[in-house]
Amino acid sequence: MPTHFSQSSSSLTTFAPRLLDWFAENGRHDLPWQQHQTDTPNPYVVWLSEVMLQQTQVTTVLPYFARFMESFPSVQDLAAAEWDLVAEHWAGLGYYARARNLHKGAKQLAEIIDETGDFPQTLAGWEAISGVGPSTAGAIMAMGLHKYGVICDGNVKRVLTRWAAIDGDITKSATTKTLWALAERLTPVDDSGRFAQAMMDMGATLCTRSKPACLLCPLQEDCLAHAQGRETDYPVKAKKQPKPSKFSNALIIKDTDGKILWLQRPDNGIWGGLWSLPLQFVEKIAGKASGKPAPNKPNTSAERLRQVTSNEKVFDAEFTTAEQIIHEWLDKHNVIAAPINQTLLDDAPIKHSLTHFHWYLTPRSVTLDNKQTTALSTALQAAEINIHWLTADDARATLGLPRAMVKILER
Ligand code: ADE
Ligand code: SF4
Repeated sequence: MPTHFSQSSSSLTTFAPRLLDWFAENGRHDLPWQQHQTDTPNPYVVWLSEVMLQQTQVTTVLPYFARFMESFPSVQDLAAAEWDLVAEHWAGLGYYARARNLHKGAKQLAEIIDETGDFPQTLAGWEAISGVGPSTAGAIMAMGLHKYGVICDGNVKRVLTRWAAIDGDITKSATTKTLWALAERLTPVDDSGRFAQAMMDMGATLCTRSKPACLLCPLQEDCLAHAQGRETDYPVKAKKQPKPSKFSNALIIKDTDGKILWLQRPDNGIWGGLWSLPLQFVEKIAGKASGKPAPNKPNTSAERLRQVTSNEKVFDAEFTTAEQIIHEWLDKHNVIAAPINQTLLDDAPIKHSLTHFHWYLTPRSVTLDNKQTTALSTALQAAEINIHWLTADDARATLGLPRAMVKILER
């Protein structure tokens, strides 16, 4: 039967058995969330781990997964947990929208179980859960329920574009459709969970981004990219727009006991619901230049700022309500936060890269007297802002800070 794929039908048909043989022999079988060796798979474990693994590597996820399972052994435990506790468990994994979706998803799942007595049993049922896309839903169907499910995540796309020399831009929906159709064609209906796990292992351990181990690969004999010696030309992906850069001061506002002011950020936006130092927006500029200062250039952040700003778009100011209050209060009372390091070489901002921009955070510190501390606290509480005065150590131990904040405290 002719297909619209560039591989022969015998290649398509033998793909799964070759992959599964390789997996049995050389795959990973001891990851704590794997369910392919049990007859009673736990969908909670697969859902939780898949959300964690969406943009984070296995080795990073392992300790986080263990802590989640210890604190929240069931989806009901996670659903009933306070957001602050979930955020604290997640802190450091990044992409906080994922943590918020995870918590929301747990509540949705607990409700469905209350109503139906079980986890969702269909692909559509899983896709309706917050934070679960088509590939994650397929993974849960296949690995978490041992039903039929197809995955087509970034790893799978890399393997398939190489094996079938698919040179369409994978950010385009036409290419995505082709890849999903190919993944469906290749997935064995009666062993899709093991197949999904095998594909993930292949992508993570053999067909890696920059140095694929083709000599060990069960697909080598008919891999079209390998035949052309062009493995790393796939997948084809449109060049991303360079990220904009945002510059902010991170204010270390201390009371006379050395306790620092912490704000809980609004639920929407960056680090939603997490605790952070007050940030003072300086400016945001379009991504264009390399951002690296020339080697013999002056190195104060102020001079660098001037260099970058001179010829690029300046964005509108971005302040949360709390930051606005603090900014205006400091201004009105002539309180000036000074750089924490007085030497020129140390005043470089801390660079923190997020999904949509690079953030350059310059720590600045000021100590308030008792009257000022009370006045500022009162102003914030009047606006119903959640605040804490905590030493750096206590904040780190109890608040679940974003990694950028930890970097600042280590400065
Ligand atoms: N990446 C995404 N899901 C995974 C899994 N279940 N095992 C290993 N790597 C993964
Ligand atoms: Fe990837 Fe190489 Fe295997 Fe092709 S032969 S699928 S490029 S590891």
